[in-house]
Amino acid sequence: MALDGRLKAIADAVPKSHKVADIGTDHGYVPLALLEDHRSEYAIAADISAGSLNKAERLIRLHHMEHCMETRLGDGLSVLAPGEADTILITGMGGLLISDILDKGKDVARTASALILQPMTAQEELRRWLIANEYGIADEELVQEGRRIYEILIVVPGRADTRPAADIYYDIGWKLVEKNHPLLGELIRNRIQTMEEIILQLKNGKTEAARIRQRELEGKIQQYKEVVHCHVK
Ligand SMILES: C[S@@+](CC[C@H](N)C(=O)[O-])C[C@H]1O[C@@H](n2cnc3c(N)ncnc32)[C@H](O)[C@@H]1O
Repeated sequence: MALDGRLKAIADAVPKSHKVADIGTDHGYVPLALLEDHRSEYAIAADISAGSLNKAERLIRLHHMEHCMETRLGDGLSVLAPGEADTILITGMGGLLISDILDKGKDVARTASALILQPMTAQEELRRWLIANEYGIADEELVQEGRRIYEILIVVPGRADTRPAADIYYDIGWKLVEKNHPLLGELIRNRIQTMEEIILQLKNGKTEAARIRQRELEGKIQQYKEVVHCHVK
């Protein structure tokens, strides 16, 4: 199965593994590609939705992968025993749902060697949660699909990470800044544009809450611009 865009970048971030588990697999494309590329010997494709798992089951049959890929129906990491999967993927969900899944399934999450997380929203909150809960962010990757840029976090459980030098790096991802990722400038410009659009709307609001939010966003834009000025080439 040839992947491209976001799904290919997720698969590329997976280290060579004995057993991977893809939590919230939906279609099952990523675990199948990992098996076909010999990046993993065995894959568990799990989802809370029976409809989603049907798609993954059809894919397994179509590609004759029954001997090395199975599906499991259930909520988050409850489908795994501690230590069962060395690499766990949780991708294409909101950052708050991802941290909730990791929190509820901490016995399983903490016994994996690597977690590949791809939050669609609340990336800042997820980074904060990871650092507060002693997960190390080993690396980050960006991938563009259409106009949207997606963030992928490669996380090592139990490896306490140093806190970033400033709060803004929970938003931006200090690993991306350290390696001066080629898409970082565009990611930041997109974020600034979104915040400027929100500020325009807030200017119509007459409430104190709207004024406070506007000032917060203006402060954040200033911090983003400082990161670009100091670090982005
Ligand atoms: C948008 S899809 C993402 C599919 C794939 N992981 C990707 O990156 O393209 C989200 C999937 O997560 C599943 N899901 C949502 N909450 C879940 C949970 N608590 N446990 C397991 N799966 C969940 C949904 O049923 C859905 O199939």
